[in-house]
Parts: sequence; structure tokens; C-alpha cells
Amino acid sequence: MFILLFAVAPLVHAQDAKLDRGKYLVENVGLCGDCHTPMLPTGQPDGSHVLRGAALGFQPIHPIPKWNAAAPDITPQGALWKKWGEIGLLKFLQTAQDPHGHPADPPMPAYKFNVQDAEAILVYLKALR
Ligand code: HEC
Repeated sequence: MFILLFAVAPLVHAQDAKLDRGKYLVENVGLCGDCHTPMLPTGQPDGSHVLRGAALGFQPIHPIPKWNAAAPDITPQGALWKKWGEIGLLKFLQTAQDPHGHPADPPMPAYKFNVQDAEAILVYLKALR
């Protein structure tokens, strides 16, 4: 029992650190919620629908080809996880290309996270249930 605890504790700690890193990247670097989380009428993000997909609250002054007026649900409940799987999402976060090698439409930024950060974001998204 004692030995088992010592063996497992660092793994649990590593996973917690990944979750924290992913949350930090989503909330403070990628600002994913600005587009993917719906707004309440007060203008605050809807905390009960974090990253569940939203109609954008802004549009370009001049027409931009392929502009998307909505951002999809990027939680594990969304269609994207089923369609792409974790491998596809991991690749997208590192290359800004979908499993067919296509970039996302604007205004989705073309993030190219390193593998550790892409994994951390996935761990955080997975925890959004
Ligand atoms: C400026 C607004 C904006 C921000 C910020 C943003 N997104 Fe998006 N995102 C979009 C829009 C709009 C789409 C729809 C584009 C499309 O379907 O091609 C999208 C699509 C996606 C897709 C699906 C891409 C596809 O080709 O279908 C994923 C995955 C995604 N976003 C993840 C994220 C993550 C993770 C973050 C933060 C690290 C983030 N987004 C930040 C607006 C945004």
C-alpha cells in the first residue's frame, strides 16, 4: 500500500499540473472563451456553458471571405470530439489544420501550441463536463 502510494502520487500530481496549465492557456493565452463561450445578457461569459459554442458577438467592418459567425462546442460533448477524436484535436492545436489538412475559417486564430501545451489544453477540455 505504502509503495503503491509513492508510485501513484507523482502521476496524479503531473495530471493536476497539466490541468492547471491547460486552464491557464485556454483562459489567459488563447482566450478561447471570448468566442466559444456564450455571453449572458449582462455581457459576462455564461459560466454554465463554458466553451459549449456560441454565436460571435462581433463581425468584420469589411467582408472577410469564409467568415464564421459562430464558434463550435469544443467540449467533449460537442460533435468535434466525435468527428476528429483526441488525435485530431491534438494535431489541430499544434498545426492549426484539421484532420484533412485544412485550416479553420476566420476568425479562429491559427494557434500552433507545442505538444505539451496542446496536451494540457486537451486535459482541461476533457475535464469540462
Ligand atoms: C476570435 C475568436 C476565437 C477564438 C479566440 C478561438 N476560437 Fe476556435 N473557433 C472560432 C470560430 C469562429 C470557429 C469556426 C471556424 C470553422 O468552423 O472553421 C472556431 C473553430 C474552432 C475549432 C474547430 C476548427 C474547425 O476547423 O472546424 C476548434 C478545435 C477550436 N476553434 C478551438 C479553439 C481553442 C482551443 C481556442 C483557444 C486556444 C480557440 N478555439 C479560440 C473562433 C475562435
